Amino acid sequence: MTATLAVARTVAEVREAVREARAGGKTVALVPTMGYLHEGHLSLLDEARARADVVMMSIFVNPLQFGPAEDLDRYPRDLDRDLALAATRGTELVFAPTAAEMYPHGAPAVQVVPGPLAERLCGASRPGHFRGVLTVVAKLFGIFQPDVAVFGQKDLQQATLIRRMVDDLDIPVRVEVAPIVREADGLAMSSRNVYLSASERESALALSRGLGRARELWDAGQADAATLRATLWSEMAVPGVEPEYAEVVDPRTLEGVERAGPGTVMAVAARVGRTRLIDNAILP
Ligand code: PAF
Repeated sequence: MTATLAVARTVAEVREAVREARAGGKTVALVPTMGYLHEGHLSLLDEARARADVVMMSIFVNPLQFGPAEDLDRYPRDLDRDLALAATRGTELVFAPTAAEMYPHGAPAVQVVPGPLAERLCGASRPGHFRGVLTVVAKLFGIFQPDVAVFGQKDLQQATLIRRMVDDLDIPVRVEVAPIVREADGLAMSSRNVYLSASERESALALSRGLGRARELWDAGQADAATLRATLWSEMAVPGVEPEYAEVVDPRTLEGVERAGPGTVMAVAARVGRTRLIDNAILP
């Protein structure tokens, strides 16, 4: 597709572009990202295209969602490459603001409190992370006021929290979640995969392999969550992988279940070298 891609650096430019789209009777989809795009992000653009007339993307490495010991400074960035990739999917506008444009007064004094859903899974080891995510997503929703916003299933806890925020705060945005896109060998696509050395890349397969094995057990009739969890753990018990969690949870509450059922989520997180990876699978 060859629509002309506009790049907005300011909130005012985004508002003007959205106003023009609406004046033309068009619906608007937003794909929020932190850039360093891969096929997973591009699939979100495709999903957005299927659901609205105009597709807009934000690219902003949000400092608010990184802890002090996390990878904010080394997070991969390549705006020119991202713009070229976004253009291949016919994206109409990319919003790439500076931190000063997003947070002109520094970290916002008023932020979104995510509540207990943010304390489980990734939230347990990343205090403040989901507050930062919800705050920037709420701002992006306020800036774009999109009809629909598309997020990836790989960040399943994030998507669950965003859905909950939209519901609890009556934000008029439809939230869509697109399936995980994987490399040929099963590794879930992530901008952070670029950190992995060749041997770490090999070790990282333990996450998707565990999910695959547990899925095979489920397909064969195993619904005992402890057995599925044990399979996830044992697949991650390999050199080079430091498992953080392996859980079998209810998709709405993110609380552990005793029996898995359709819709139950198996979720894993581990460190491979200095890189923290996550992955999940929803049982059919
Ligand atoms: O998933 C991400 O890339 C980020 O958490 C998001 C939703 C763009 C907020 O910064």
